[in-house]
This record gives sequence, structure tokens and C-alpha cells, in this order.
Amino acid sequence: MNIQSEIANVLEAYLDLPKETIEQLLEKPKFAHLGDMAFPCFTLAKSMRKAPQLIAEEIAEKIESPLIDHVEVVSGYVNIFFHQPIVAAKVMEEILDQKEHYGDFPKDKGVMTIDLSSPNIAKPFSMGHLRSTVIGNALGLIAEKNGYTPIRINHLGDWGTQFGKLIVAYKRWGKEEEVRKNPIKELLKLYVLFHEKAEEDPILNEEGRKWFNYLEQGNEEATKLWKWFRKESLEEFNKIYQLLGISFDSNDGEAFFNDKMDAVVDILKEKQLLVESEGAQVVELEEFPPCLIKKSDGATLYATRDLAAAIYRQENYQFVKSLYVVGNEQTLHFKQLFQVLEKMGYDWAKGMVHIPFGMMLKDGKKMSTRKGKVVLLEEVLQAAIELAEKNIDEKNPSLEKKEEVAKQVGTGAIIFHDLKHYRLTDIEFSLQDMLKFEGETGPYIQYTHARACSLLRKGQFSHPASITSLQWDHVSFPIVKILMDFPTSVEKAIEHYDPSEIAKYVIDLAKAFNKYYAHVQILEENEEKQGRLSLVYAVTLVLKEGLRLLGISAPEAM
Ligand code: ARG
Repeated sequence: MNIQSEIANVLEAYLDLPKETIEQLLEKPKFAHLGDMAFPCFTLAKSMRKAPQLIAEEIAEKIESPLIDHVEVVSGYVNIFFHQPIVAAKVMEEILDQKEHYGDFPKDKGVMTIDLSSPNIAKPFSMGHLRSTVIGNALGLIAEKNGYTPIRINHLGDWGTQFGKLIVAYKRWGKEEEVRKNPIKELLKLYVLFHEKAEEDPILNEEGRKWFNYLEQGNEEATKLWKWFRKESLEEFNKIYQLLGISFDSNDGEAFFNDKMDAVVDILKEKQLLVESEGAQVVELEEFPPCLIKKSDGATLYATRDLAAAIYRQENYQFVKSLYVVGNEQTLHFKQLFQVLEKMGYDWAKGMVHIPFGMMLKDGKKMSTRKGKVVLLEEVLQAAIELAEKNIDEKNPSLEKKEEVAKQVGTGAIIFHDLKHYRLTDIEFSLQDMLKFEGETGPYIQYTHARACSLLRKGQFSHPASITSLQWDHVSFPIVKILMDFPTSVEKAIEHYDPSEIAKYVIDLAKAFNKYYAHVQILEENEEKQGRLSLVYAVTLVLKEGLRLLGISAPEAM
């Protein structure tokens, strides 16, 4: 139930204002003694030519609804106190009836493509890519709940001059069996070596460019090596995706657009957008530096491939929204990209959004792959899973499906650590913080959910149970109010493209539930027991669904 909208309906009868305006004006008081909802009358004073306090008093005198127990007028506000049994019954009925579909929006919003993860071949999967992966995946799940059809695209960084360099490095210093044994580490080593050597010997850069040219033209040796590097890298990345439980609708990366770029360049020429600048082909932009389309040696660029990809995505999926979950440092690139598409006359470019996020810092500094200073993500995930397993062995050694739960908890810890922050915040990479099993962490939410499930088992909860016998109070009714807010939270999360909205929501719900748990003998044998368990059940449903939207599993025991 959208209570805000219901209360606005009630108020509409007494005010000469559109319902939407009333709904926007309605506030949630910070303190319970100020009511469950408040209507400020200040903005009405002018048009109604009355003091806010007077307007509030007039509304208070007349207002009547089964949802409202009473109202109080305090300095220009109408403070509304809900009729708890009726509001609670409505909310509970909705959740128990719709279960995991509670908070679903009609599936009519169209396709939303989400460009996420997109690591670079022959380089380690960095913490930055982890951020993109988990934020993008959560946005996909949240978009789906909001009624979009999400298409997850892993736009692999598998093309570009760096592959020319890598081929040169491999041909000079690489050993096949070393690469087979440890593909990413070995290829990274070669890449780092190339840059070191190229500082003394600039000819190497020349050679790297030459080999990328060969690759773009389909040279056999170059293609064979490239395919091999790609395959080995993908296998490594897949281990991480498997651990995280994430899959993609498309793995078409930059290379996929190699044969689709000429067409784009042709359109640019046709529309007279392409100009020459120092031998290179660029599109000039009003507000930003020119967008480089072709280098002087004819090589295409990251931006050229993104142009081709955007057009391809529109043709292929007819998206209404197209998201790019990519770090903050690429903001200019996406501004240029979107502007070039607009100049090309594509109206759909308005639906494209860059979703930036902050950096993953190590000791306050940016983590860089070039210098080999990088945390290997798979090792981090494994460490988290091992620690989770150790915890289980200590606390609950007889737990069934221990390994599976450890995996859910370990990865959940890492995902939640990432998603609970507003995405633009830089996050300090701290294994210790991620793996904490108390405080505002994934394991804390999972544990709250498992504890609630265990109550349902112990109390032999049988659904449907009546809640009419329940007495609502200061520990139980706040839970209802939070449950009631779930759909709004789901909606806000997509409006702001921000999964932390949901993470913060589940933290609030878990905290409210744990308070209830501490205050109330939930399993006490009396006529309210099944009613209390209904509330517990509603909490499990919404906690589990909230975690699911973040890409985190909710084990029933841990
Ligand atoms: N591979 C790039 C990187 O690691 C990210 C690609 C993002 N997606 C895109 N369509 N440009 O920096």
C-alpha cells in the first residue's frame, strides 16, 4: 500500500490542491511523538490567505479516515497518527498475499540495457570492475522489479593498441607454458615489462602499433594470439562471476565492433561531422574537447567502438534506457559519446546514462594495474568465503550445506560492503571491514533473516495466520512502517540508479526487527503467537527480496 498516496487522497477532499502536490508535501516526521506522517501548511498560506496554523487547525477539525486514528496540530503542521490496527492489517495483507512480488511494478517500462563489469582482457579483474559488476547487477535486478526488461552487457575490453603491445611483449619475452599456468598474472607481467622497456626503447611502441594494425586487419598470427589471450582471460573472469552468481545476456566486447565501425565512420562523414585534426579524424563538440574517432595511423579508438556499440544496442534491443556502469574517471568519455550521438541526430541518445561510481582505494590511494599493485579479486572472494566457513564451524558446526552457506555469506559480505555506500563515494579497500560479521554488514542482514526463519520453524508458523489479535506498539508498529516503505525504496533506487537505497532499507528493517526480537517473547504460547509470527514472516519475505535485489542470497539457517 502506498500510504502517502492514500493519505493524500484523504487530504484532497479538504484542500484546493492537486493530489500530486499534496503527496509531495507530505513528510515523514523524524520522531514518533510527531506522528506517522505530517502535512506542512506553510506553502498554502499565500494562496489561501490564512496563517499556516489556522489552515492546519481547519484541516484537523474536519479530517476523517479509517486509516487515521487522530491528528495533532503543531506549529503549522498537521501531524497524522495512523490507526495502527487498520494500517498494519492492510500492509500485512498485501505482503502475505504478494510474497516476493510485494513491491513489483507493472512490467511495462521497456528495455534497459546495462553495460557493466567490462574488464580488460589480459589484465586482472580489478576492484573497480567488482564495483561495476555488483552495482550493475543490482541495478539490473532493481530495474526488473520496477518493470523494465534489463539486458546485461559485459562490454569486454578486448580490443585496442594495448593488444598490439601485448603481442609484441609475448613474442619477445613470453613463454607459452607460463601463460597457460597463470594466464592473467603472466600476461600482466609481460604488459608491465613492455612499458618498462618502452621507456628506454620507444621503437617498441611503434612495433606495438604495427601489431595492432595487423590485428585490426585480421592478420593470422596476431588473431591467433589475441584469441588465446581472450579465452584464457575469460576463463579466469568466469570464476569470479560464478562465485558472485552473476551472468550476462551478452559478452560482446569491443572486438565485436571491429567490423561495425566503418559504417559509423561513414555516417559521421555523411553528416559532415568528421573533421581532420593533426592527421586524426575527430568530431568537434561545443562543450567538450573533440572526440577522437580515428588515429593518424587509421587505428580506431575506445570511443569509436562505443559509438558502434550504442547504435548496435539501439537497433538490437530498442532500449528506452541505456546505462553505463563505469568509474568516475570516464565521465568525460561518456559526455563526449552521448553528445556525438545527439549530433548524429539520434533521439534515443537522451535515454543514455553514465552511472559513475567512486574509486576503490588502498591506503587512500587509487589502485592501479599498470604497476602490478593490485589485489586479485578472486583471492579476496576466496578469503571471505574461508572466513565465513570458519565462523560457521565455530558457531554452528552441524549446519547443513555448510559450504554453500559459506559461499553465500562470504560473497554477500563483499557485495554488501560495496552497495551500502552511495555509489559515488570512494571506498577504502579493507578486507577486514568487508568481512565483519556484525554492524551494518551483509552477514548481519543474512543472520537476521536466518534468525527470523528459525523462529518460524520453531513456532510452527502456518500461513495464513490472522493478525487481527495483535496489539501494535512502539516496537512492532515501526516494523510495519518500514515494510510499508519497501515499494517506495524500490522506486527510489532506480530513480537515483542507486542500490544503496535498498541496502540502507534492509539495514533499517533488520535493526527494527532485532529490536522487536529483543523486546518481545515471540514464541510465547498465547493467542497472539501466530499473529507475531506473521509479522516475522513478512520480515523474512522483504529482507530476502531486498537482499536478492542486491544480488545477495539469504540462507534460511547459518
Ligand atoms: N573496459 C573498460 C575499463 O576497464 C570499461 C568499459 C566500459 N564500457 C564501455 N562501454 N565503455 O576501463
